[in-house]
Amino acid sequence: MDKNIFKKFSYGLYIVSTKDNDTLSGCVVNTAVQITSQNPLIAVSVNKENYTNEIIKKSKKLAINVLSKNVNKEIINKFGFYSSKEVSKFDNIEYEIINNVPVIKEGSCGYLIGDVVDIVDCESHDIFLVRVSASQVLRDDEALTYKYYQENMKGRSPSKAPTYVEEVENTSSSKYRCLICGHIYDDAKEDVPFASLPDDWVCPVCGVGKDKFEKIS
Ligand SMILES: Cc1cc2nc3c(=O)[nH]c(=O)nc-3n(C[C@H](O)[C@H](O)[C@H](O)COP(=O)(O)O)c2cc1C
Repeated sequence: MDKNIFKKFSYGLYIVSTKDNDTLSGCVVNTAVQITSQNPLIAVSVNKENYTNEIIKKSKKLAINVLSKNVNKEIINKFGFYSSKEVSKFDNIEYEIINNVPVIKEGSCGYLIGDVVDIVDCESHDIFLVRVSASQVLRDDEALTYKYYQENMKGRSPSKAPTYVEEVENTSSSKYRCLICGHIYDDAKEDVPFASLPDDWVCPVCGVGKDKFEKIS
């Protein structure tokens, strides 16, 4: 199997958000797609280990927030690398509860809201099929694409993203992997060896400290 072909797939970037009673949850996904146009259906793939998956199964409702190219990368870091179980992701972000679902108002082109009508079990992930009941364009920005996120915003994907590709190369120098986002710190490519980095150094991708890195070679 030539896995490089997977890198040729095109995607957008979204935040899936949901609410069960007082619990708000949301995560970044690149795997949302429109399935039908009349009485529209959307499909979105969410890892079973994501807290958002658990909350969607309870609420049976979700919003797909279509991210703008002007989104602050901090929003992607918060929603894409941390769990709603541990971090209150909706603090300090502009959002509104619409049809009992949290809709993100900043860094977004607009949203679709709907009810989950079916769930397809796909091993590590579930595909939620959602019947769209409301939608709105919030601003006329260009939508963020996965390619733009990777190439222009230098963004990465954590292991729970379906498109995650392990970043291990074949050299004999010491390498350290971020347990949160998978970023590799390769001593051979850096001016400062990992061991000599200051204590307040943080992962350039997701912002966690040195203690969240494991030595892999
Ligand atoms: C660029 C990017 C794309 C991602 N795509 C997906 C995806 O399609 N499906 C998924 O389940 N997780 C995806 N993730 C990972 C989740 O956003 C991440 O695991 C998140 O921390 C889960 O949060 P939660 O536990 O609050 O639900 C992606 C993350 C990033 C940064």
